[in-house]
Amino acid sequence: MTFVAANTGQEIMTATANTDWAAIRARFPILQKKTYLNSCAYGALSTDVIASLQSYINDRLEKGTDWAYWVERNESVRTAVARLLGATANEIAVTASASAGINSIASSLHFDQGRNKVVISDFEFPTSAQIWYAQESRGANVVRVPEKDGYIPVEHFEETIDENTLIVAVTQVCFRNGARLDIPAIVEIARKKGALVFVDGYQCMGTADFDVRKVKPDFVVGGMLKYLLGTAGIGFLYVREALIESLVPTMTGWFAQADIFAMDSTQYAPSSSARRFEMGTPPVPNCYAAEAGLSILAEIGLPVIETRVGEITAAIIAEAKSAAFTLAVPEDRCRRGPMVTLRTHDEHKLVGELENEGIVTSSRDGNLRISPHFYNNQDDVDALFRALRRHKHLMT
Ligand SMILES: Cc1ncc(COP(=O)(O)O)c(C=O)c1O
Repeated sequence: MTFVAANTGQEIMTATANTDWAAIRARFPILQKKTYLNSCAYGALSTDVIASLQSYINDRLEKGTDWAYWVERNESVRTAVARLLGATANEIAVTASASAGINSIASSLHFDQGRNKVVISDFEFPTSAQIWYAQESRGANVVRVPEKDGYIPVEHFEETIDENTLIVAVTQVCFRNGARLDIPAIVEIARKKGALVFVDGYQCMGTADFDVRKVKPDFVVGGMLKYLLGTAGIGFLYVREALIESLVPTMTGWFAQADIFAMDSTQYAPSSSARRFEMGTPPVPNCYAAEAGLSILAEIGLPVIETRVGEITAAIIAEAKSAAFTLAVPEDRCRRGPMVTLRTHDEHKLVGELENEGIVTSSRDGNLRISPHFYNNQDDVDALFRALRRHKHLMT
């Protein structure tokens, strides 16, 4: 299959030609009804996830209660996330949200024993900034690296990260404009200063290869409802093996204990693995959905997905340029994730008009967010731009 940019006629999709995209699209029923370009908010629901959620209902009806099996479902998500990141299962906590993972790590850091600086950026999703600001009452000094013209060059982090920095906690891709930070370079700078690095990968995981052994962050969080194709109410936290036992979270619960089923209420004995960063009963139905979503990604393969998403976003950018719309995301492929953003005069009106025409997008900060996944194609891009050209008075 080839992918031809409508305006330039340029053939841009060749590397993913061996994948049967039409068959894959058929597994996402909403694509037959709508032009779905909102994976940054919620990934399209697949027949795989529907079947998996149905099997949860069937299991409940058939088995009644089977905690051993449900704990296995949680373990299976842990293994799948480990595979996604090139980590070991011991390094993964399955959490209820990204916030839960960030809070657990924040609760295990000490801000009154030497270093207390937390470096964040203007690109953070509110939850991650808010959790770090909440640590100020425990002695943290949160310092924010400002955005300039829609990007934050690595030099700005270099100026801010110093010998007093305990942790650099940054998003991989900005939820407002889609800009992607140079995480490997930030990790390198932080390492030289002896600081930890926490990556919020929510807006990128599932669309590009991210190997923790190569990038070497200390912590990564993400969630299953967007590009990981699962559902809301389940996320993950990666913690680098060598750090696990030195971190003792004070946000905890019985599923974080070394022996969960010891039911020992006389002490706190956290697991030696990253399970120590979990809390209470696992989100069982969500594990079923997450397992199915992650297995679609494993089936297609991240390198193929990364190429495909790169091709689709390139086609969107080509169309936007040809229509003389204003990009809010950096054009450089190295500086952007799976989301393309365009400046608008009225983001809510535009998203509403598109919705009325069966095109699902979203907006933030005056930007129209167009967030494709591997299941989108040139027809989706063409439908979007036909509509945007009709609404060009709302575009800048
Ligand atoms: C970058 C980023 N981080 C975190 C979150 C949300 O995290 P949580 O799972 O805690 O709701 C989002 C949700 O949109 C996000 O885009």
